[in-house]
Amino acid sequence: MSEQYVTNYGPTDDWWRNAVVYQVYPRSFSDLNGDGVGDLAGVIDKLGYLELLGVDAIWLSPIMRSPMVDHGYDVADPRDIDPLFGDLATFDKLVAEAHDRDIRVTMDLVPNHTSDQHEWFAQALAAEPGSPERDRYFFRDGLGDDGSQPPNNWTSVFGGPAWSRVTDEDGELGQWYLHLFAPQQPDLNFENPDVLDDLRATMRFWLDRDVDGFRIDVSHGMAKPADLPDMTDAVEILRHTDDDPRFNDPGVHAIHREIRAVMDEYPGTANVGEVWVSSNDAFAEYVRRDELHLGFNFRLATVDYDADQVREAITESLTATSSVGAVPTWTLSNHDVPREVTRYAPDPAESGLNGGQALAIGALRARAMALVELALPGTVFIYNGAELGLPNADLPDDALVDPVWENSGHTDRGRDECRVPMPWEGAEPPFGFSSTPDTWLPVPADWAGLTVEAQLEDIFSTLSLYRQALELRYARPEFSGDTVEWYGAPDGCIAFRRPGGLICAMNASTEPIPLPPGQVLLVSTPLDNGLLPPNTAAWLI
Ligand code: GLC
Repeated sequence: MSEQYVTNYGPTDDWWRNAVVYQVYPRSFSDLNGDGVGDLAGVIDKLGYLELLGVDAIWLSPIMRSPMVDHGYDVADPRDIDPLFGDLATFDKLVAEAHDRDIRVTMDLVPNHTSDQHEWFAQALAAEPGSPERDRYFFRDGLGDDGSQPPNNWTSVFGGPAWSRVTDEDGELGQWYLHLFAPQQPDLNFENPDVLDDLRATMRFWLDRDVDGFRIDVSHGMAKPADLPDMTDAVEILRHTDDDPRFNDPGVHAIHREIRAVMDEYPGTANVGEVWVSSNDAFAEYVRRDELHLGFNFRLATVDYDADQVREAITESLTATSSVGAVPTWTLSNHDVPREVTRYAPDPAESGLNGGQALAIGALRARAMALVELALPGTVFIYNGAELGLPNADLPDDALVDPVWENSGHTDRGRDECRVPMPWEGAEPPFGFSSTPDTWLPVPADWAGLTVEAQLEDIFSTLSLYRQALELRYARPEFSGDTVEWYGAPDGCIAFRRPGGLICAMNASTEPIPLPPGQVLLVSTPLDNGLLPPNTAAWLI
């Protein structure tokens, strides 16, 4: 660690084993300079809020220099702050002030690809086929007599082909390059030693500025099979399977070991990887002792509000991590996944409810699931706005800016609806997020009741529920132990117990149920004559 800051975190270096990490999506968190996009000064301004909420750490989605085609996940200079968000001095201030409040700071690292505006890509375009400059990426000749067919049949996660053809300086069509995401995000070739060297330099650059770790984007990508074999199955946009040659190549683990070696030079730091694989064995390989400290396991973020599905997601996640002695992680949503309130809302067409009624049930279920995830052992990630019970926003087509919308030929609306700015205060959009009403995504007018200001003093609000839950999780000895023991529970319900004595019960049935014996610590909605109502969870000791 550098000398510029002395931490006061206490004796343990492994804070990440049992932490609550809050994901700040900087574009949408707080805009202090009034340009309609959130910034680092805005994050500093809200650190008091995060301290009040009681989180241990934040994860900042990308803030490095970027043309913002994929809103920061297209990095043009990984060792500088994009002027849209601020500068390095503001970043250093954010880290220091967060540390003063005992909040650790982790940030996104995007090793799989660069922006097409990165200097390496410009050099590659200017260089000959077969040159060292092109070898940092995946440049290949096209198939067919005239090279007019892409080198294989891979599709981009965002829609369309995963290959784009370049025009050479003489105006002739040339080679193709690989991009698993947007064409403006060319994939890097980790077989080229420059790539790993540069990643190490980037990690040290930020670690020397006292960051406490990274969220590693596309951790299951990075390595590609040598012969780039065709895909067998057509896959949906934003999805892939475990046998998809684009991802989860065995060579990725050597890269993770190199990343871990750098982290081990900085005690007390930790990484969490974005690992979209579904088999437990495949997942466990990423969190072996010399690879990632933590891996995002997305099972809980992708199941319905259904007792069997939730129980299975928890059991499978625990099985995956315990097989290698790793720490489980839990999350209900992020900037790529629809917000839980919307996901859990019954389908109005099937339920006969109107949209508002359906969302009200979704909100109750999201509160219940918050108590479930916060009752579990390991580390929990909360996406900004989840603590306010925000739903996805309904956005008009002309407001959509996620590249998925364009690249899918307007067949997939993409992820903008879960990325709308945070409502802080007041009665009109953008609710204190910015001084301009012209925010990068519009904030729905009907969020007035969901602002931080509206919820802070209301003890029944979702924000208050989160604050109480975080405080209890932090303070109570009953939350100790690495396992969960399942209780018998009525149909459509789950109940489990931590070794320390905490019991969590969740009712996903349609009838109120009796609680397990014990003293109630917290309920996600009030009990009904001593019974646990549908769409509710409780903590007991
Ligand atoms: C990850 C990010 C996502 C981004 C993609 C490409 O999946 O979470 O937001 O679009 O990587 O970098």
